[in-house]
Amino acid sequence: MQIIESINEMQAHSVSLRHQGKLISFVPTMGFLHEGHLSLFEVAKEESDVTVASIFVNPAQFGPNEDFDQYPRSVEKDLELCRQRGVDIVFLPKKEELYPTGYSTYVCEESLSQPLCGVSRPSFFKGVCTVVAKLFNIVRPDVAVFGQKDAQQAAVIRKMVQDLHFPVEIRVAPIVREADGLAMSSRNSYLNEFQRRDAVRIYQALCKGKELYDNGNRNVDRILAEIIHHISECRRLRVIYVSAVDKDTMKPITRTMVEGQTLIACAVWCDEVRLIDNLIL
Ligand code: PAF
Repeated sequence: MQIIESINEMQAHSVSLRHQGKLISFVPTMGFLHEGHLSLFEVAKEESDVTVASIFVNPAQFGPNEDFDQYPRSVEKDLELCRQRGVDIVFLPKKEELYPTGYSTYVCEESLSQPLCGVSRPSFFKGVCTVVAKLFNIVRPDVAVFGQKDAQQAAVIRKMVQDLHFPVEIRVAPIVREADGLAMSSRNSYLNEFQRRDAVRIYQALCKGKELYDNGNRNVDRILAEIIHHISECRRLRVIYVSAVDKDTMKPITRTMVEGQTLIACAVWCDEVRLIDNLIL
């Protein structure tokens, strides 16, 4: 496995691989890898000759009072996991090279990024789109793989790719869950034993909503109310949003729910830890 830190070297290497006719797949990450990320590597490997992963905690996607400084980091362990899971190249850029002093260019998607997480994290998707666009220009992948856990992020990136004509196919891999259902996330490492026990309620609540849907209920407000009620029964959990949106456009579903097209997405504070989850009805 190769580890590349310089932007020029990564770009030159990708150009050379493409000249050799190799298909490049790419999994951008912020590190502190867990089974969710590793499942993205599996999808990436199936899709290409060379799999590139990046590890970079992107300051541009954190708000001023968010957890950039505390965000968990474990580069050595991450590199070992990448090695074990057959990643060919890990791109480890330096903050000073990606965002040098005087950096002033950003990429904003202005529609799908507005609802859901866009309300409580107003600069998050600008930061994500900017870094992903930069990484695409450096890594030059044919295919890039994202996780369904960040469903809105995946939809926003798809739209950016379409709008800006990036020659990249976007794949979205299913959510990987802990045995009790909690969606895997690097931020789960912030949870203490009691918070961890209560956090599972978020997925259980989504399942209660799905149960209503599976039993024939098509009233979106009733389904959302059931989810909110189940989450709010736990003192530690505070709903940031629970919404039903079209999974591609992120537009609210108000009436007719088309099978397989409704994304029920939520963000919840578990004490001071912000968790997100979703499922598709
Ligand atoms: O999903 C993530 O880990 C990040 O938002 C990403 C896509 C790596 C951009 O920093």
